[in-house]
Amino acid sequence: DWSPASFVAATVEELRNTLGNDKVVLGLSGGVDSSVAALLLHKAIGPNLCCIFVNNGLLRKNEFDSVLDSYKHLGLNVKGVDASERFLKELDGVSEPEAKRKIIGRVFIEVFDEEAHLIKDVKWLAQGTIYPDVIESVSVNGPSVTIKSHHNVGGLPEKMNLKVIEPLKLLFKDEVRRVGKELGLPENILGRHPFPGPGLAIRILGEITAERVALLQEVDDIFINALKANNLYDSVWQAGVMLLPVKSVGVMGDERTYESVVALRAVQSTDGMTADWVHLPYEFLARVSNEIINKVRGVNRVVYDISSKPPATIEWE
Ligand code: XMP
Repeated sequence: DWSPASFVAATVEELRNTLGNDKVVLGLSGGVDSSVAALLLHKAIGPNLCCIFVNNGLLRKNEFDSVLDSYKHLGLNVKGVDASERFLKELDGVSEPEAKRKIIGRVFIEVFDEEAHLIKDVKWLAQGTIYPDVIESVSVNGPSVTIKSHHNVGGLPEKMNLKVIEPLKLLFKDEVRRVGKELGLPENILGRHPFPGPGLAIRILGEITAERVALLQEVDDIFINALKANNLYDSVWQAGVMLLPVKSVGVMGDERTYESVVALRAVQSTDGMTADWVHLPYEFLARVSNEIINKVRGVNRVVYDISSKPPATIEWE
C-alpha cells in the first residue's frame, strides 16, 4: 500500500543504488516540487546533492532571501545565485507574453548551466517533475498545440551532458505534499500556492521594469498577507495580482491623479487546468483595496477578476 513513509523508504534506497557516490545538481525554485525532490535526494546522498537557487528578480517580495534561509535550515547544500539584473536586462523592452517566457527560460538555463559547470564531477541533473507535468507537456504543449510554453519539463539542455533523475515523476501534487510533510518540509513551503516559473513577468502586462516589479511586489505582498491574516490563504488554490498596462484617472485631496490599475486574482482549482474565481468576502476585498491604494504609490484603482477558466486563464499572460 502507498504511504508517504513507504514511498520515502523505497525511493531513498533506489536513489542510493542508482547514484552511488555520484554528484547530482538540482535547481530549487522555492516551490513544493523541487523542494521535496531535494529533500528526498538529500536524505539519500547528503552533500553530494548540490542545489542551485536562482533569483530571477521576478519572485515575490523578500521571497529569495526567506526561502534560501529555509533551505539552509533544512541542511541542504544550496547556493543562491542572484541574477536579477541579468534577467531584467534581457527582458528590457519586451512585452509579448511568449517572448517573455522564452527569454526567462533561456536565461535561466544559461545561469544554471554556468553554475552547474562550477561543480566538479557532477553526473546527474535532478528535477522535481511530477506526473501532471509529464501529462501536460504532452497534451497541452505538444508539437501541434502550444498554448503556453511551460519550461518545467525538458528545458535543460542535452549539451550539459548529464543524466536526468526525477524521483517524483509518478506522484500527484497531493502525494508530493504528503511526502514533503513526511520529510519535514516547513509549512511556509509546503502550503505555498503554485507560482509560475516566469514569475511576476507574466503578471506585469506590457514592459517589465525594475520599478514595475517593485510596485507589483508591494501590492502582491499586501494581498497575500491579508489572505493569510484572514485565514483565507489555505482555502484558495492560487492567488496573485496583475499589474495592468493602463492608467486611469483618480482623485487624491483636490488633486487629479493618473496612475496604474491592478487586478486581484484568486482561484479555486485542483490541477490548474480548470479554475473558478473565488467569492472572497466584500469586506475583505474592500480592506485590501484601501490598503493597496493608501500604501502603494502609483496605484489608484484596484479591480477583482471574476473570470473562470476556461475561457480565461489563471495568469493574464
Ligand atoms: P494558466 O494561466 O495557463 O495557468 O491558467 C495554469 C497554471 O500554470 C501556471 N503557469 C505557469 N507555470 N510556467 C510555469 O511554471 C509558465 O510559463 C506558466 N504559465 C502559467 C499558472 O501559475 C497556474 O498555476
